[in-house]
Amino acid sequence: MSPTHLPIRKAVFPVAGLGSRFLPATKAIAKEMLPVVDKPLIQYAVDEAVAAGITELIFVTGRTKRSIEDHFDTAYELETELAARGKADLLAAARDVLPPGISCCYVRQPQALGLGHAVLCAANIVGDEPFAVLLADDLIDALPGQPNALAQMVAHYNASAASVLAVHDVPREHTKRYGIVSVGGSTHASHSPEAHRIQAIVEKPKPELAPSTLGVVGRYVLPAQIFDALRTTPKGAGGEIQLTDGIATLIAQGQPFDALRFTGQHFDCGNKLGYLQATMALGLRHAEVGEAFAEHLAAVQKLQGK
Ligand code: UTP
Repeated sequence: MSPTHLPIRKAVFPVAGLGSRFLPATKAIAKEMLPVVDKPLIQYAVDEAVAAGITELIFVTGRTKRSIEDHFDTAYELETELAARGKADLLAAARDVLPPGISCCYVRQPQALGLGHAVLCAANIVGDEPFAVLLADDLIDALPGQPNALAQMVAHYNASAASVLAVHDVPREHTKRYGIVSVGGSTHASHSPEAHRIQAIVEKPKPELAPSTLGVVGRYVLPAQIFDALRTTPKGAGGEIQLTDGIATLIAQGQPFDALRFTGQHFDCGNKLGYLQATMALGLRHAEVGEAFAEHLAAVQKLQGK
């Protein structure tokens, strides 16, 4: 079995960004702790990873690290209070953030030097095996009855041994917000018609320079060699060490990377509009408040004469 065929067991969650687009909400907590209805963004990403078979969670934290650590730790005081008051449902909600058998560890990114630098901070913990990276501010809601985005990527990796980037089509005027890939014309994984071999990748190109409109969203299945590439990656777009540039180095060396056009609804919760859209979509089908929320929205529309 070649090293690139090792199973994907570990996932890195970079949560050390400044989250400046959500200030002042993100002054004291990580952006990834913002709730969508009743779960923080990071919990959606962790649930996705665990459902995709990940058993080791590695959080790359920054100055707001405590809230993330506390969220995935046991909250003795809170649990004792809830138990004493007989609030079984709430006790379960507080406890069930992680299923048994899942381990968490935390590494600090001393300065927000960029996503590539954040991933590099996890090098010693990941070691010499392929791994997943999930950006929790990209919330991807699985379609009913279908595997989630990371599970689709892991299945593609298992079948092809290629590294995998999740992509979706973006408006050309938005290419400056994404890593943009150019792909070969032919699909080459019979089980997954939406996968294409990546020929090149560039971070945040201007619309007129973008090689395509296929934008990378925050899910990656990467080889351990990415760490060596990142060690020598200079600062790129925005003065940050970019994961995209490390990936570009490996592609130029001939390493196979595939772009997977996943199924699922993507919300960019790193900006306010995407965050509100996610809250609306998940709120409308929430077991406890969905119906009342739908009635409220209908009443608001009526009031506005729409
Ligand atoms: P973003 O660029 O979207 O997040 O990084 P940001 O910098 O926190 O947000 P703004 O632009 O200031 O509002 C994508 C992901 O990479 C992580 C972020 O936490 C986010 O999950 N990241 C980014 C790091 O962990 N470290 C960094 O140095 C940069």
